[in-house]
Amino acid sequence: MAPFPASGHPAAEAYLADGYERVVGMSSRFAAAICARLLRLQTEEGVSGPIAEIGAFEGRFFIALAHALEPGEIALGIDIFEWPNPEVRERFEANCLKYGIAPEQRVTIKGDAGAMAPAELLAHARGERLRFIHVDGEHSRAALSKDLALATACLSEGGLIVLDDMLHPGYPTLMVAVQDYLEANPGVVPLCIIDRETIVGATKFVLCQRDWFERYQAALLEIFKEQIWPLGADFEPHWCLVLSLDTRLAEIT
Ligand SMILES: C[S@@+](CC[C@H](N)C(=O)[O-])C[C@H]1O[C@@H](n2cnc3c(N)ncnc32)[C@H](O)[C@@H]1O
Repeated sequence: MAPFPASGHPAAEAYLADGYERVVGMSSRFAAAICARLLRLQTEEGVSGPIAEIGAFEGRFFIALAHALEPGEIALGIDIFEWPNPEVRERFEANCLKYGIAPEQRVTIKGDAGAMAPAELLAHARGERLRFIHVDGEHSRAALSKDLALATACLSEGGLIVLDDMLHPGYPTLMVAVQDYLEANPGVVPLCIIDRETIVGATKFVLCQRDWFERYQAALLEIFKEQIWPLGADFEPHWCLVLSLDTRLAEIT
């Protein structure tokens, strides 16, 4: 098995080591470590600004992302906060406090992302465009298409859109929405695939603007050299890296 990648942020590292698994949630720790490192990469490339998560739930992934921000940057946590009960919002706030995300570092937005206009989301971000958006809300084709449109409209130059539960056996049609989106938005391409850890800690796709692909991929080849699965992902005709804890190939004799 490949080693766990370093997140590049001491606070994120501490939370991932002792905290992440204690917060109820779904995203994998592997994906959280990679996304925290991607936020560091953006900083290294001069990309700054707020971030957002659609589907913040109890805060597991949100807290990891927020720990990877630079001073003055904020994280927006969006959720309908009704599932599995309305107290989930209190648990989100309590987890953020417990694991070191101060109220001034974040904005909680209770609402349906699918009904949110880009101007509304940007207003929550003090008028700044978002550099990183994790899409993990309602898992239907229609909802994902709306979330992708919202994320695209709010994304900054050099921004990243991360999609959760891709290729998940429980949500096979989400891939159809992604393919439709990529065909309609040729300026956006998959930067890499973050392989699943378990059926719950599912695969994520990381999307970036086409103009940023080569620059980001060159950095990823170095940063994640131990986690690269050799064959890559074929998006016909676009190719991108696959990052995995299991980098083996099938044995053929
Ligand atoms: C799978 S959970 C998110 C898990 C979390 N991101 C993590 O990694 O631990 C999905 C969340 O999306 C929220 N959600 C569902 N539909 C939504 C919508 N239309 N707008 C905003 N949030 C939504 C649900 O309330 C739920 O908390």
